[in-house]
Amino acid sequence: MATSEIIWTTDWDRNFLCDAGLYNIHKFWKVETASKHVEYKHLRDEKSEKPPGERQTTCIRAKGARYYIKRASGHFYPALINEFNALNTMSSIGVLTPILAAFFLDENSKTALLVYKNLAGFNNLRKLFEGTVSPDAIADFQIRKKQIIRELAETRGKIIKAGYLYSEWSADHIFVKYKGPGIVLTDFEQIEAVASMSWTRKNPISFSLIKMQEWKNFKSALMSKIYTDAFLKKILKDK
Ligand SMILES: Nc1ncnc2c1ncn2[C@@H]1O[C@H](COP(=O)(O)OP(=O)(O)O)[C@@H](O)[C@H]1O
Ligand SMILES: [Mg+2]
Repeated sequence: MATSEIIWTTDWDRNFLCDAGLYNIHKFWKVETASKHVEYKHLRDEKSEKPPGERQTTCIRAKGARYYIKRASGHFYPALINEFNALNTMSSIGVLTPILAAFFLDENSKTALLVYKNLAGFNNLRKLFEGTVSPDAIADFQIRKKQIIRELAETRGKIIKAGYLYSEWSADHIFVKYKGPGIVLTDFEQIEAVASMSWTRKNPISFSLIKMQEWKNFKSALMSKIYTDAFLKKILKDK
């Protein structure tokens, strides 16, 4: 295990999480047994023997506040580094992402930890479509649906224009601000700069298949057959 320190982005989160018993990387790494003040729920839990590595995404609750933590080691380490780097890139092109409360990245031990603040004031798109959020949030969504879809399409446009391929379109990864503009995307482990793709992926035949898949994923994130190509083009045109 690495010996370097966790980098905290705010004193408030540092004090809060340290008080809850999460004061160093070892505590975060073993968050399941770290402290009686911390509840947890795994959203993803992967282990690989060959090549070796561990990968976990966990929602934790400490003294009523929620955080999302992503842990990766070994074979899974580069993907989390990719996500960490993408946070800056996305912010520079005006794409909103969750905010880090803390992080720990250690090249020597191939250990990475990202601690995200909960997306308070936002609702998950899948939950909005499924109607499993508050009635107020559902009503707001129904009224602003077209505007939200447009904003989402604009977000996709910003990523493409900046030369990146984000293929993780899924309603689970999209968060919509309650009563106001703002779309947040999550999960940047697989995002790629088109310029640094290998020729195997970038050649015209492979790349057009990759782009088709990206568009298919985008449309299925919208969870409805009414969002056809023509409909989406129209929505973007008549803004
Ligand atoms: N900061 C956050 N606030 C609220 N929900 C989040 C946050 N980060 C992630 N999530 C939720 O947790 C799920 C898993 O996170 P994600 O980054 O997709 O991890 P994985 O790489 O394991 O798929 C996401 O689909 C999203 O619904
Ligand atoms: Mg995910």
